[in-house]
Amino acid sequence: MTKVGILGLGAYLPSKKLTNFDLEKMVETSDEWIRTRTGIQERRIASHEKTSDLASKAAHQALRNAKIPADKIDLIIVATISPDSNFPSMACKVQKAIKARKAAAFDVSAACSGYLYALTTAKQFIQTGLYKRALVIAAEHITGLIDWKDRDTCVLFGDGAGACVLGPVKSGGITADFLQAFGDHGDMMRVVSEGARSPFHPGKTAYTKLPYIAMQGQELFKIAVNSMADAIKKVIKKAKIKKQDIDCIVPHQANDRIITAIAKKLNIPKEKIFININKYGNMSAASIAVALYEAQKSKKIKKGDNVVLVAFGAGLVSAANVIKW
Ligand code: ACO
Repeated sequence: MTKVGILGLGAYLPSKKLTNFDLEKMVETSDEWIRTRTGIQERRIASHEKTSDLASKAAHQALRNAKIPADKIDLIIVATISPDSNFPSMACKVQKAIKARKAAAFDVSAACSGYLYALTTAKQFIQTGLYKRALVIAAEHITGLIDWKDRDTCVLFGDGAGACVLGPVKSGGITADFLQAFGDHGDMMRVVSEGARSPFHPGKTAYTKLPYIAMQGQELFKIAVNSMADAIKKVIKKAKIKKQDIDCIVPHQANDRIITAIAKKLNIPKEKIFININKYGNMSAASIAVALYEAQKSKKIKKGDNVVLVAFGAGLVSAANVIKW
């Protein structure tokens, strides 16, 4: 079967920074609480840009780095849970923005695991020979789904986008995938909509509050640690490598303490884990996409390395991939 690998990476972060000190003026919180409980110092806010704008900018950079023109892209997949609107899809909006006129295009919804679900999906299309080159993007304007009066959630999230061009490679590439879902626990993290627009809805017929994210943080914390540790074990087994063979782990960035707990549970040195949550907070699907871009740029990932991507998020869903760089 065709080997499939990453041909180029890109990322885009909106310029507006919101620091913990800024948040101190908005809700009852402190820089000290946020830093010690999460590792976050600041996050980016898309004030005038939409999800599709962030996605298109990250896509442009990935194409430039891959040295592949947009008209050579056969497939665009955007992972997001915060699209501009229900439709058209973000992938179609990106197609228009970058002029990838011959590409098929659709979105994937798998919250913080979205980038890995999208990568794995795109890989299948290339492996089977249906398409040759795919653009996989993860983009979130998740701060638009936040109740900015709720200190439990408003300190955690940030906006951004990352992208990669996938295509056939002679050696290495994505060597294993692992996708999992725990739909029974979906209520632990969700977007709450109070009221409805439809006159046929049994409850209130007008929105009393804009939709907002609600979550059971402590319970999710434990499941995140266990399911990501489990996903790493399963995906490296599929890739036929051992823990000691892992050169770099790029995990979902929800909480620095979750990452520390995974490292401890698996007895993996934390230095092997790429962390940038301090700068961006939790960007849902975009977290791993941006982290992977920055890991390569900072030479934390080198040719020949075994790189493990691992995610956990609302759904609940978890996912992992091994990439031979
Ligand atoms: N500032 C100050 N105090 C706060 C804040 C805040 N921003 N937020 C909560 N607190 C208070 C609480 O009210 C509570 O006070 P109390 O003890 O008087 O009741 C206290 O701090 C402790 O609150 P906890 O919720 O127990 O704090 P915890 O240490 O668990 O940290 C956190 C909360 C950061 C949310 C953590 O549980 C976490 O990271 N959970 C996992 C999140 C996750 O992985 N989500 C899924 C992925 S995201 C996605 O899919 C889009």
